[in-house]
Parts: sequence; C-alpha cells; structure tokens
Amino acid sequence: QRAENPVRFDPERQVWDVFTYDETKEILEDHETFTSDLTQATAFDFPAPEEGSPIRNSVLRMDPPKHTALRGVADDEFLPGVIQKLTPQIAAHTDELLDAVADDGEMDVIEDLAYPLPVTVIAQLLGIPPSDSDQFKQWSDLLLADAGSADDPEAVLKAQRDALTDMRAYFLDLIEERRADPSKDLVSVIATAQPDGEYLADEDAVGYCMILLIAGNITTTNLIGNSLRTFKEKGLIEQLRNDDELLDAAIEEVLRYRSPSQALTRVATRKAEVNGHTIEPGEFVITWLGSANRDEAQFEDPETFNLDRSPNNHLAFGHGIHFCQGASLARLEAKVALKKLLGRFESIQLTHDQLEPVDSAFLYGTTSLPIA
Ligand code: HEM
Repeated sequence: QRAENPVRFDPERQVWDVFTYDETKEILEDHETFTSDLTQATAFDFPAPEEGSPIRNSVLRMDPPKHTALRGVADDEFLPGVIQKLTPQIAAHTDELLDAVADDGEMDVIEDLAYPLPVTVIAQLLGIPPSDSDQFKQWSDLLLADAGSADDPEAVLKAQRDALTDMRAYFLDLIEERRADPSKDLVSVIATAQPDGEYLADEDAVGYCMILLIAGNITTTNLIGNSLRTFKEKGLIEQLRNDDELLDAAIEEVLRYRSPSQALTRVATRKAEVNGHTIEPGEFVITWLGSANRDEAQFEDPETFNLDRSPNNHLAFGHGIHFCQGASLARLEAKVALKKLLGRFESIQLTHDQLEPVDSAFLYGTTSLPIA
C-alpha cells in the first residue's frame, strides 16, 4: 500500500491517507496549511471526532498564537531535567503495583501495571488528592471503554458523557481552590498562569488538565505492553535486564516498530500539493505514523527490530509544534516500569499466544498481556 499509494484519497471515508515518512513530516511541519483544529473541516460528513469532548478545547486541537501561549504555560514542567526528578516517585508507584501481584508469580502486565501506572503518576503530578484517586481511575476507565463493542452502547456513551461532565466540574473546583491557595502541582501552574496578563479562561484551563490526563494514559500503557511483548518475542529480556542504555534504545525502537499512537488527524486550510495530489481546503487528512515509522525510504530494513538503529528518527511522538509534550515522561515511565519488571521476574513467559488488539485504528496495543 505504502509503495503503491504513498498518499491516497478514500472516497468512502472522504479522507486523505498519508502513509510515507517524508510526506507525514511535511504535513506535520506545516501547521498553517494543515490545522489540528478539526472544526475547520468542511468536506466530510461523518460525525466530527471528539464531539463534546474537552479535547476540543485543548492544545492538541489549537493553532498558534493560542496554541503557543497555552502550551507555554506548562512547558517548563515537562523539560527532561524536571521529569527526570520524578524517577523515585514513579519507582515507588511501580513497586507498589508489583508488590500487589508478584506473590503467585502470575500477572497481567496491562491490568496490573501498564494501565494503572500512568493514571497514578499523572494524577499525582496534577495534584489530585489521593482520596480522589479511585474516583479518578473510574473516570479514566469509563472514558476508555469501547461503546461500540458493549452490550448496551447507548448506556456506555451516556456514562462517558456523564464522566466528562463530572470531571469538568471537578477540575473547575480544583482550579478555583488552587487559585485561592496555590501549591506546586500542575493544576496550580495551570490555574495561576496569566499568559496575557489574565487567568486562562475556564474552558482552556480545564481542557489543559483533561488533555494531560487523557493524552498520556492509554498511549503509555501501550508503550509498556508493546515493549515487554517485543522484548520477549525477540529474546531480548536477558540482554536488557541490566543495561540501562540498551533499554533506552530498545524503548525507542518499540516506539518506531510498534507505535502506540498510530495516526494523527489534520484538516487542510488551503489548497496543498502533497506527493502530486491536490488537497482542497476543508479536506480531512490522516497521517499514519505506524506506517511512516516503517517506511523503507527512511529506515533501513524497517521490518527488523534493531537495537542499534542510530539515529532513530521515528515520528511516534509526532512532529512540529504539537510534538508530544509528555514524551520525556512517557519514556521515563516506560523505562522505570520495564526495569522493575525485568528485575523482579527471573524468567518471563507470555502465558497467552492469542492477544487481543486494542480496538482502535488509531492505537496499537493489546488489551491484556498475561505473564508468569
Ligand atoms: C501530543 C504520542 C504520552 C501529553 C502527542 C502527539 C503524539 C503523542 C503523536 C502529537 C499529536 C498531534 O500532533 O496531533 C504520545 C505517545 C505517548 C504519549 C506515543 C506514550 C508512549 C504522553 C504523556 C503526556 C502526553 C505521558 C502527558 C502527561 C501530550 C500533550 C500533547 C501530546 C499535552 C499535545 C501537544 C500539543 O498539541 O502541543 N502525544 N504521547 N503524552 N501529548 Fe503525548
């Protein structure tokens, strides 16, 4: 598909699909021609994604200058040096989760570790009081539930709408509290920021809190799961157990080889030429990161999992102004979790050979990963 049709229009979905590395990069770099604000789409008639979701009001879906100002509010909090200091607390959360399961020598890496870890870490960073963390996890579970495959899809959709409404109200209260009495957490940073000499509008402040929560959870879960699965399949566990640098390289290669975030969406704001095709204003474009990351024009022997790939210029965290703000945090969480996991289990066996893929074309991961 990639070689024959690097870029194609699918009349059924009314969408441009972009499969190649260079074109993906070109589109993500040109945010003026390809906006992240999907409300600018005119030429497609399926329901607009993220209808009613606060994601719509977040940096993910904004253009400059608002994007620049809003993202700048928390940029310093995500610098690699700042994130690195979170190692002890991420390690403590990981230990706690592993202590709860390690006794019988069996666990589900997704359910017991990869899923709860990122929620716990971001909740603590945001400054959610521990007494509310169960409520928080419940909301996260609900938002991740796949309505399409539920017995009663309408009920799930309603529960998701209710969860969003409740979370929004929760964050509004917390933001108000932190304005009155700031502490050092991320909600305080967002609540007290005054990029234009005034506090952020409620919707923007809430949208920011919500995107930090939503963007980093299932993606990091999948990175941890995809990593362990790949290390096991490729016979790399022993080699990686005590070699931190190699583990870093291995996680980078998993990001390329099994990219947790498979696709990004954009809308053309003006006429554009891509690979000889003319994209019209208002048309919807999907860049397929998973495919770009296996483009033979960019990566030598792309179907091979190679620990020596250098440089490894994958696009798993995106590219350009929307490059993942949480990339350092995701890398650190994955590293700490995998190091602890490899350290605790003398030998690791995958106990199921039939793994269920996560039910979304935009995500790559498995719903469970039982090991013994
Ligand atoms: C944006 C992937 C973890 C916060 C993005 C984008 C990608 C991505 C591809 C670009 C979206 C676009 O251009 O439309 C991932 C992957 C992760 C991960 C694969 C884990 C392995 C995290 C974490 C956080 C986070 C842990 C924060 C706690 C964000 C935010 C944005 C973003 C705020 C929007 C940035 C902007 O629009 O300027 N992520 N992400 N991500 N990510 Fe991540």
